Formats: sequence, C-alpha cells, structure tokens
Amino acid sequence: MQVWRFPTTGAPTTGTIDGLTLGTADIPRPGRGQVLVRMRAASLNYRDLMIATGRSARGAPLPDLVPLSDGAGEVVEVGPEVTRVAVGDRVAGCFMQSWLGGEISPDDAASSLGGAIHGVLVEYRLFDQQGLVRLPEHLSFEDGATLPCAALTAWNALFHGPKPLTVGQSVLVLGTGGVSVFALQFAHAAGARVIATSSSDGKLAQAKALGADEGVNYHAHPEWQTVVRALTGGRGVDHVVEVGGPGTLPRSIEAARQGGHIHLIGVLSGGGTIDPSVVLRRGVVLRGIYVGSRQMFEAMNQAIALHQITPVIDRVFDFEDAKAAYRHLQGQGHFGKVVIRIE
Ligand SMILES: NC(=O)c1ccc[n+]([C@@H]2O[C@H](COP(=O)([O-])OP(=O)(O)OC[C@H]3O[C@@H](n4cnc5c(N)ncnc54)[C@H](OP(=O)(O)O)[C@@H]3O)[C@@H](O)[C@H]2O)c1
Repeated sequence: MQVWRFPTTGAPTTGTIDGLTLGTADIPRPGRGQVLVRMRAASLNYRDLMIATGRSARGAPLPDLVPLSDGAGEVVEVGPEVTRVAVGDRVAGCFMQSWLGGEISPDDAASSLGGAIHGVLVEYRLFDQQGLVRLPEHLSFEDGATLPCAALTAWNALFHGPKPLTVGQSVLVLGTGGVSVFALQFAHAAGARVIATSSSDGKLAQAKALGADEGVNYHAHPEWQTVVRALTGGRGVDHVVEVGGPGTLPRSIEAARQGGHIHLIGVLSGGGTIDPSVVLRRGVVLRGIYVGSRQMFEAMNQAIALHQITPVIDRVFDFEDAKAAYRHLQGQGHFGKVVIRIE
C-alpha cells in the first residue's frame, strides 16, 4: 500500500511541506479488538500545516510521521472480539483515539492522530475499535473526512460548555476556515443568530448563503468588535468561536456580552496582549477547547443526520497531489475544508 510520511532525515526539506514523501508499506492485519480500514478520504486542518512546518506546540513530531488526523473509510477486516463495527461499515477515526467521554486526561491528549501517533494519509490503517465512529448515512467519504477535528471542535464549543448555545442567542465566528464554517452551520441549524467575520467580501457572501445573518470584513473594519457590538444593539454576542488567538482575543472579549462565553480554539494570529482586568470586569468566560470526545462526536453525528448538514468542501485533491493540498490550505484562500481523496 502507499503511505505519505514526513521522514526525519535532517535533509534540507525536513520541516517543510516539500519533506512530505510517498512510500510503500505492507497492509497490516488486525489483531484482537482491532479494525482494518481502507481509507477513502482525509482532510487537512491548520494544525497539519503547523506540524509540517515544525511549529507544533507538542515539539518534535513522531519519527517518520504519517500525517493528518482526519480521515474516513470503509471497514474491510476486523480482528477477534470486535463488536462495535462490522465489515462494510463506513467510519471515521476519532482525533483523540482514547478520549471516549467525560473529561480529557493527559493520556487522551497524547493519543491524537497525525501528531502524537501516526495519522490517516495512508491507504489502509489499523484502528482500535474504540477509536472509530460511524458516518452519518447522507455523507460521502470526503464529507465524513472533515468531521473528526474541525467539526467536532466547533460542536464542542457551542454545545458542551457550562452554558450551551440556545435558540435565539448570537454567535460570532472569526474567518471562514474549517472550524468557523462548521460553527456557522451548527449555530444556524440550532436557531442562533450568526455574525461572521472575514478578510474577503466574497467569502462573506458565501457565509451568508450558508445562513450567516451578518458579515463584517475585518480588513475594511480593523475595529470589527465595535461593528459586532453595534449589530447586537450594543449588547455584544453570547458566544465567540475564537480561532484567532493572541491577535484577535482582546477584540473578541470586547465583542462579547457581559458574561458571554469565549471558546478559545485557535492561534491563527499573533501579537496581541490581554488585559485580565477586562476579563473580570466584563465577567466573560474563557473556555479552552481541545477537539472533543467520541461521545461528543456521536452526538454531533446525530445532529448532522437530523438536520441533513453537509460539510462545506472547498476543494478535493488526489492522493498523489497531497503536497498541493497542503499548499492550498497554506494560501488561506479556501472557504471551509480542504480534502484529499484516497483512491
Ligand atoms: N483547540 C482545538 O482543538 C483546535 C481544533 C481545530 C483547530 N484549531 C485551531 O483553530 C484555528 C483554525 O483552524 P482551521 O483548521 O479552521 O483553520 P483554517 O481552515 O486554515 O482557517 C483559516 C481561515 O481563518 C481565517 N483567519 C486567519 N487569520 C485570521 C484573523 N486574524 N482573524 C480572523 N480570521 C482569520 C481566514 O478566513 P478569511 O479568509 O475568511 O478571513 C482563513 O482563511 C487554528 O489556529 C487551529 O490550529 C484548534
């Protein structure tokens, strides 16, 4: 079978997208409790760019890492004592293979595909049966491959905090990348009012077509938080899906209502400083998010099936064009998700 890896060779391309190397390996056989999945599609997240370019917060990646956390495929063989899935099932791998439910543990955090352990950019992969979920029926493999990280992170932010999103509340999503577009779709389906920001008027038009109620161009309006407050009658939004990090957080706090919830997810921007007195004066809740558990994934898939939500895929690349897929994500021109078909 074919497999993409980031070899740890010390070559000049190490730590770059060009380091990605296509090789071969034997198709593994499932042992007790294991499942062999023929991978059909994988999707990229910003994290995969950070890992490819040596900017991962976890430090040095696994030697000869098979990249990408998010993939979907078909069960082709099961080992002894497998009861959760059967041959022919269409499945996706959980981002954190061991986080089944409850609170996340340090061991769970160390079970992330495509970082702490090998990922899914490969034709066949063995999974523990506990690390898989079934895909919603209406989704293709390409659709299903977008769910494990971006969708689940957005879902966890909106629905698994101390005060989950309720009908009629307002949600601010920053930019139109993978996490933010899923947050837009989930919030819209839940009956919330969605305000989206973007660097591009064209992408804001796409966001509105998906259900965003308002759009703010953060290039045209560098003080976008004041526009967001004005759009909410001066009150501020109930929830912020915060993917920007240091460069956007101070403005996100200003855009939130008194006691609003800010879901800390990303680090797309740098440079800002946070004044803790603003946090306490405004009584906002800052909640750190790390993807989500299998239990959350299954709850999300029920909602996706009920509302017939279809992930927004910007572009699908062929398996042999994996480097081009990375470069497309790096260009930040995408809206939603970038996918690799594994045929
Ligand atoms: N904590 C977690 O569990 C978790 C899970 C998933 C992702 N993340 C993090 O969340 C972030 C987003 O991930 P992703 O995979 O969705 O990324 P992505 O698809 O690459 O999103 C990129 C988009 O974000 C927008 N953006 C970039 N800089 C921005 C800024 N300063 N202000 C507002 N929007 C900005 C741009 O949209 P426009 O072109 O429309 O402006 C850009 O196209 C990353 O930092 C990632 O590491 C964390």
